[in-house]
Amino acid sequence: MLIALASVKGSPGVTTLAVALAAGWPADVRRLIVECDPAGGDLAQRFGLAATPGLLSLAAVARQPVDPDIVWNHVQPLPGDLQVIPGPSGGQQARAALSTLTSPTSPLYGIARRPAVAMFTDCGRLDPGSPAEPLIRNADFLLLISGTYSDELAHLATRVHDIGHAASRACLVLAGRGHPTHAVERELGIPVMARIPHDPNAAARYTGRAAAGRRRAGGLDRVVGAVALALSGGTTREPSPPVPDFVQQVPGIPTQLTAASGVRVLPPPTVRNGHPHAGASGKEFLS
Ligand SMILES: Nc1ncnc2c1ncn2[C@@H]1O[C@H](COP(=O)(O)OP(=O)(O)OP(=O)(O)O)[C@@H](O)[C@H]1O
Ligand SMILES: [Mg+2]
Repeated sequence: MLIALASVKGSPGVTTLAVALAAGWPADVRRLIVECDPAGGDLAQRFGLAATPGLLSLAAVARQPVDPDIVWNHVQPLPGDLQVIPGPSGGQQARAALSTLTSPTSPLYGIARRPAVAMFTDCGRLDPGSPAEPLIRNADFLLLISGTYSDELAHLATRVHDIGHAASRACLVLAGRGHPTHAVERELGIPVMARIPHDPNAAARYTGRAAAGRRRAGGLDRVVGAVALALSGGTTREPSPPVPDFVQQVPGIPTQLTAASGVRVLPPPTVRNGHPHAGASGKEFLS
């Protein structure tokens, strides 16, 4: 299974969510994070990994069609029994590697199609013409992550429909403080799959700033666990529930589907009540 994660603007926590989601994914599959951010990667620095192996070394051997299993020669371990193909810090090198690794013969696709593999690709910011776009088109799910302050929503509104059409199944995920989820849903006309809470303690664990401890029942871990459960449903032996046609056309998971899967998560009351924007009309920030 291939789960792509991306943003449209700012740094809403894509890389953090990629690691958290992999950590919260059922551990009966091999969980691999691939840092495909065209602006360059962060995980090698955050977790003190060696510069190689990684995206560059994989791209160097994947210029011709190769056995997909070659991918496993280019991974490094992350805490929590995860594996990562770290991206180089430099954007130019990352983009060159991506042009190779997103070709139709890329070994990444071969590995992601394996039933016992969950691959999480951090595609960074999805600018038009991003070299990570083929990953979005080939993903089973795209998680499009956005902050909800007015400036962030204004950028999201201009791109969300194009991106939603490009991906086979796009899910909108909001992150952090800002305008309430229901206001964003109303104004964009798109259901929101989940709201990632502002949770600096959990974020510190997934960015290598705090020791990997036990996953907690609250905050980021709880929401990410619910997202992982819903998305990984497609990898179990149970047949997937039928997906209504309009999922193909409208970005985001339809409300009834998310309600049934239990994933639709509203911001915690402290965030909703404590934020001065809680009563703001959506028209203000999207018009
Ligand atoms: N849920 C969260 N709660 C609190 N802080 C968070 C959360 N998620 C991420 N952060 C913090 O926000 C910062 C940016 O996170 P991250 O690098 O994941 O963003 P990004 O979207 O990948 O950014 P970029 O586009 O620059 O790669 C980090 O310092 C991280 O610790
Ligand atoms: Mg990032």
